[in-house]
Amino acid sequence: MLELQGIRKSFGKIEVLHGVDLEVRSGEVHALLGENGAGKSTLMKILCGIIPPSAGTIRIQGTEHHFANYDAAIAAGIGIVFQEFSLIPYLNAAENMFLARELRNRLGLLDRRAMRKRAGEIMQRLGVNVPLDVPVQRLSIAEQQFVEIAKALSLDARILVLDEPTATLTPTEVEHLFKVMRELRRQGVAIIFISHHLEEIFQICDRITVLRDGEFVGSCAVSEVDNDRLVEMMVGRRIESSFPPKPVFEASAPVVLEVDNLRIKKNGPVSRFTLRKGEILGFAGLVGSGRTETVLAMLSAGPVASCTLKIDGVEKRLSGPDEALYHGIGLLPESRKEQGLITSFSILQNISLNNYGKYRKGHWFLDLKKERKATQTAMDQVRVKAQGPNARVDTLSGGNQQKVVIARWLNHQMKVLIFDEPTRGIDVGAKAEIYALMREFTAQGNAIIMISSELPEVIGMSDRVCVFRQGGIVATVEGEAISSEQIMTHATTGSIEHVA
Ligand SMILES: Nc1ncnc2c1ncn2[C@@H]1O[C@H](COP(=O)(O)OP(=O)(O)OP(=O)(O)O)[C@@H](O)[C@H]1O
Ligand SMILES: [Mg+2]
Repeated sequence: MLELQGIRKSFGKIEVLHGVDLEVRSGEVHALLGENGAGKSTLMKILCGIIPPSAGTIRIQGTEHHFANYDAAIAAGIGIVFQEFSLIPYLNAAENMFLARELRNRLGLLDRRAMRKRAGEIMQRLGVNVPLDVPVQRLSIAEQQFVEIAKALSLDARILVLDEPTATLTPTEVEHLFKVMRELRRQGVAIIFISHHLEEIFQICDRITVLRDGEFVGSCAVSEVDNDRLVEMMVGRRIESSFPPKPVFEASAPVVLEVDNLRIKKNGPVSRFTLRKGEILGFAGLVGSGRTETVLAMLSAGPVASCTLKIDGVEKRLSGPDEALYHGIGLLPESRKEQGLITSFSILQNISLNNYGKYRKGHWFLDLKKERKATQTAMDQVRVKAQGPNARVDTLSGGNQQKVVIARWLNHQMKVLIFDEPTRGIDVGAKAEIYALMREFTAQGNAIIMISSELPEVIGMSDRVCVFRQGGIVATVEGEAISSEQIMTHATTGSIEHVA
């Protein structure tokens, strides 16, 4: 169906794709794998006519194509769902699907009926039932994802690219997506699938192609590789256990944060927890179980009906995340784009943000050399792949942007860091390094609250785990009890404490 040959791409003087080949057959799900910054998204943007290649050829069913833009690629039967969503929140599904390629009637007016009908037909082809008439911002993330797919698929699409579609989905939603992908595969569509969750590759993919640093490493059937071999192809070395050893748990360690009587809503469940010096406290639970809301409530950064907060034993009422910073508490948000980074700034500016005190020289000046050096060190720690500290954040790959957020906070000299889904979109190699840095941070006498939907990560990293259900903490487990069975049992059946 599709043959990419010798694709090269340079941005300015720097070449990021060095002659990549990719062959995808009809009726297969083909995984495109590689570390953050390997060139996956760039290759896919070239395939879809969004950026031009510097060299190389694209053939579809044997015919060579040179796409001038995305519309030309769509006309040739290609569709892409981007790593970052591109829907307009206040338009409905049908409007989003036909944005900038509206159907018009003979008078040149918008043909809403025709668009709605086509939208309905595509949804039916996908086998999903998504309301077409409500603004997409009111749909769930999974439903929005299906609108993205429907938008990418014209009725006769033959090639579909999915760039990290599962990063924001819950396990049930992932299952649903896989069902849709299997249906499309049955219809003969060639699907290119990008994900850092290797278990998904074994679940859904038929063949794989691996890129490393913009080079083609190899292609083969999924049945020919196992997890270790995949990682080796991607990273170029073996990775030992990704989780650092847990220190001996000190029950007598001083409490840095104590939260009592926390309710998000007036009649909602009550949560209480403590965070001790030197520990990583995991927040586990299903998506929507109130983990992020609880943290925001504690910092007065979101709705809160009641909360008693003690910092180092002293009762405090925070007025928001700014005041939390003042007390040495930093929040690394779930969505790096909306809350985490200023993407039009450089890496250096983002890492130094609210951190200038460190580089002060005399009263008025900043030691720019020191700042640059510190930034480079911070980037090396988490293995940010970029042209240098002055690279703009919006030229980085998705995973590398996430690494910049982490580098920034680890360099802020906070006492408490709250990580919300810290490794979303991060490749297997860099994950291990980030875990090691988190441990280093707590070993220095600091503490971490880690919200994570990845159970292995919660289990591998946490000294204690608070399990959430329906808006509150239903259990706190430690030691041997930190197991997937125990956590899942509490997360699905734990009893909720209400206060009359
Ligand atoms: N507009 C741009 N200007 C300069 N460099 C760029 C630009 N776009 C991408 N790059 C560089 O190209 C390389 C490949 O990036 P790409 O986004 O394709 O990676 P990726 O494999 O999709 O990674 P991830 O898993 O993190 O999403 C990166 O080093 C990135 O910094
Ligand atoms: Mg990418």
